[in-house]
Amino acid sequence: MQLYLDSANIQHIREAAGWGILSGVTTNPSLLAKEDPKVDIKNRILEIHQLVGGHLSVEVISTDTDGMIREAHEIRSWFPDATIKIPMLPAGLAAVKKLSSENIPTNVTLIFNPIQAIAANNAGATYVSVFLGRLDDIGMNSEHILDEITSIWYTHGFESKIIAASIRNPLHIIQSAKSGAHIATIPYDVLKKSLKHPLTDIGIDIFLNDYDKLQTEIQKLLIEQ
Ligand code: E4P
Repeated sequence: MQLYLDSANIQHIREAAGWGILSGVTTNPSLLAKEDPKVDIKNRILEIHQLVGGHLSVEVISTDTDGMIREAHEIRSWFPDATIKIPMLPAGLAAVKKLSSENIPTNVTLIFNPIQAIAANNAGATYVSVFLGRLDDIGMNSEHILDEITSIWYTHGFESKIIAASIRNPLHIIQSAKSGAHIATIPYDVLKKSLKHPLTDIGIDIFLNDYDKLQTEIQKLLIEQ
């Protein structure tokens, strides 16, 4: 399963890109709105693209088909391998159909049930983003819904890649991998937290202390000789 960072924060993206485990970045208008408004959105997106190099999803804000297509072309003029994030609306599906006929990759976002996912796949989406955390927030079982979607995918051999999104904790990442999602897009703090384990830190301390002890013994032996 590939790991993407779900962020528009340059420091976080730079740090996580340095770990060598990222295959891409997803952004959305809310993530962009958290950042410094003095930095132009196009420049921020281009900087993110330079930092990670792989997949980068940029979301449109239009809700009509023509507006979405216009924005998609604009974003693709910034950098030619942009993936266009399109909201899961009937007008969005029509935009996905058109963009897919132009070989422009799309990521249909805000998917919460299997039928929305099937519709996005059939419209020609390259990626379908299934939101886990927001389902759990309203008392729905995201694990069950993602399992339904992945099982439909593998039964029918659908082509769109499933992105597990709205990840809120390490268990969501494990749940995504177990269910067969192709990608999990993860916020910086959740990814960082997931890479840490107290036994890893304790283990490193023990190794380093033991190495220091060995060095002291060696020094003692050298002095005695
Ligand atoms: C997906 O691409 C979205 O950017 C994201 O995962 C939304 O997550 P949230 O529910 O934490 O806002």
